[in-house]
Amino acid sequence: MTDRVIPLLDVRTATLAPPPLELLGATETPDGLVADRRSRPLRDLRISVTDRCNFRCTYCMPKEVFDKNYHFLPHGDLLSFEEITRVTRLFVAHGVEKIRLTGGEPLLRKNVERLIEMLSRLHTPQGKPLDLTLTTNGSILSRKAQSLADAGLRRITVSLDALDDAVFRAMNDVDFPVSSVLEGIEAARAAGLTPVKVNMVVKRGVNDHQIVPMARHFHGSGHILRFIEFMDVGASNGWRMDDVVPSADVVTRINAELPLENADPNYRGEVAERWRYRDGGGEIGVISSVTQAFCADCTRARLSTEGKLYLCLFAQQGYDLRTLLRTQATDAQIAGAIGRIWRGRGDRYSELRSAATVGIKKIEMSYIGG
Ligand code: GTP
Ligand code: 5AD
Ligand code: SF4
Ligand code: SF4
Repeated sequence: MTDRVIPLLDVRTATLAPPPLELLGATETPDGLVADRRSRPLRDLRISVTDRCNFRCTYCMPKEVFDKNYHFLPHGDLLSFEEITRVTRLFVAHGVEKIRLTGGEPLLRKNVERLIEMLSRLHTPQGKPLDLTLTTNGSILSRKAQSLADAGLRRITVSLDALDDAVFRAMNDVDFPVSSVLEGIEAARAAGLTPVKVNMVVKRGVNDHQIVPMARHFHGSGHILRFIEFMDVGASNGWRMDDVVPSADVVTRINAELPLENADPNYRGEVAERWRYRDGGGEIGVISSVTQAFCADCTRARLSTEGKLYLCLFAQQGYDLRTLLRTQATDAQIAGAIGRIWRGRGDRYSELRSAATVGIKKIEMSYIGG
């Protein structure tokens, strides 16, 4: 299985965003109510803590691009834990309630537990703890689950694209076995990082024959399996519409074996559409960014490993908050910059997706996180 590889333009540096100091305007005391041009509040912050990963999933970090010559960010470019915590506190003041740590593979960031400890002490203006979670490939989860829970992580999402060992090894392209990820999932349950969600990206002809086996495996387990439509993120995964298995087909295939009924969303803007097994065997979710865009309710901001703020998973440019954090800018000034950026947001890429947008150079998912 070789994916067509499009040469990578380094959108990390080819940014057209305003120079950072121009972001500094009026100071602001956030009131938790900031909304963008489409009246969408800011509720969810996804923080990438490393751009590195020990997997080379063919749809995300194809080996041909992410090889030994690829320039990952040097350590000094990464936001420190203190910087991440400071900026997160300001996002929380603006209304953020959920924090998701991502990567690359976030568990590869040294001492990530210390960051979790720091973030877990933050509270919303109403005094509620944050929904603090993390997305991992599960490769080192069996030995990390307990320390993550002890540090204050509340729940976890694990990516797993197949149950068949050969298919999974080919997809992660580093010959990593399914059994170790399954052990990681069970360790997460034992540590109380529940509900554990399991994310499967479905790519036609590659792993779609794994849909029903995955559903059977997690049926009755208490874990929530979610099927994700393969998206045209980044510039190196060679995406084609033919590769997408629409979520409606996923539901039809599972329903034929294990009958399903629709379930209500847990909250407004939930990315996954929920389906419940009629026999009481739990629930699954489908994430349909291609066939049913969910931009109208998108409340997500993304902070890259080096401190750039991205307003959309498909953005071409980010706003350099790191420079603000490393100059003498005050909290009120940085909060003012975040407020101004969010109020100007109009992004809705998935609603606008067309043949013409697929080829534009977008940020890589391994850099910005899922
Ligand atoms: P919960 O907090 O557990 O509800 O998780 P979530 O719904 O935020 O989902 P998660 O973070 O696990 O995201 C799952 C997948 O959905 C990601 O890997 C992406 O493929 C896709 N996804 C998440 N957020 C967005 C988004 O804002 N836009 C698009 N297009 N896809 C997204
Ligand atoms: N389409 C959909 N989801 C993707 N992910 C990575 N690349 C893609 C893509 N092209 C998801 C992975 C993982 C998370 C980090 O992002 O499945 O769950
Ligand atoms: Fe790594 Fe996740 Fe990308 Fe796979 S999808 S290469 S595990 S960041
Ligand atoms: Fe949000 Fe952009 Fe995804 Fe639409 S495509 S849901 S605006 S991140």
